[in-house]
Amino acid sequence: MIENEMDFEGRLSAPEYSPEDNEIENSLRPKQLADYIGQEKAKENLSVYIAAARQRGEPLDHVLLYGPPGLGKTTLAGIVANEMGVNIRITSGPAIEKQGDLVAILSNLESGDVLFIDEIHRLNRTVEEILYPAMEDGKIDIIIGKGPSARSYQLSLPKFTLIGATTRAGQISAPLRDRFGVILRLEMYKPEELALIVKRSSKILNIPVDDKGAMQIAGRSRGTPRIANRLLKRSRDFAEVKYNGVITAEAAEEALSSMEIDELGLDSIDRRMLMTMIKNYNGGPVGLETIAAAIGEESITIEDVYEPYLMQIGFLARTPRGRCVTPAGYQHLGIPFNAGNDGSTQQKLDL
Ligand code: ADE
Repeated sequence: MIENEMDFEGRLSAPEYSPEDNEIENSLRPKQLADYIGQEKAKENLSVYIAAARQRGEPLDHVLLYGPPGLGKTTLAGIVANEMGVNIRITSGPAIEKQGDLVAILSNLESGDVLFIDEIHRLNRTVEEILYPAMEDGKIDIIIGKGPSARSYQLSLPKFTLIGATTRAGQISAPLRDRFGVILRLEMYKPEELALIVKRSSKILNIPVDDKGAMQIAGRSRGTPRIANRLLKRSRDFAEVKYNGVITAEAAEEALSSMEIDELGLDSIDRRMLMTMIKNYNGGPVGLETIAAAIGEESITIEDVYEPYLMQIGFLARTPRGRCVTPAGYQHLGIPFNAGNDGSTQQKLDL
């Protein structure tokens, strides 16, 4: 059981997509902006851009969505396509290996279609170069053949909207970033918004949940709808077996505690990471690579998956000299801030 909890693949509170999410996520995805809960700023801007593009009878400008995983980037892309009345083609940066793969996708789009590229920061440079003229003037240059017999052709594409999604805006090359007319940052959701999402999902999935049960799940979902929906599903099992089928606060509490997810949504890996930093490195500053090696996780996973939430709730700070556990982090783990360290963490944080 503990082994399983440590296994990233099986981590219930991982915001990343897992194949198990596919079918429920699709059934839960809102189709219209009006049904999309939270992200008020992004929603407000998008609704204006969509209305304006529709009035002009033009496709929407290219959109870049960025923010931590699980916040609804794919869902928003689907809503844009739906509201614009066009098809959406979904792919991802690592799935497009060669220029030819992208040429095939682009030349199969219909006029006005949305092309959604998830993890767009992982596109390779040669593929990216095809994208620039395609985004800018709806053209692609292809070279057929090699050596003296190579010929260059230009292909005109139908007008389309590229929606790129990334967890790492900083890793997108400047020429690509500059070609997006609309750049929207998605924020972590507030517990009240997540509770509304849990209630909405519970209706669609026919899982009875009361207000306090929904709030209990929301408060432990790390600001992420994908996690909230996953915890809703798991809590249902407990409710059915032990609580007459209704997810009450008590049922949710028991379900979540049994999954070792604490009242702030931290799981065993988050706690292990903080604990290792405190016990082995005096609370920091400690480098990312060192933490990764100490807890046996990839540093990219730590940066993209664990850190955003730990920083959001103020348990972890990034300083120029490394990561530090904050006094609030110590307090949450029940370790006195001055015990086991010489107070230097605080001084370093004050730098
Ligand atoms: N399901 C997942 N994300 C959602 C959101 N933002 N609004 C409504 N339902 C959702």
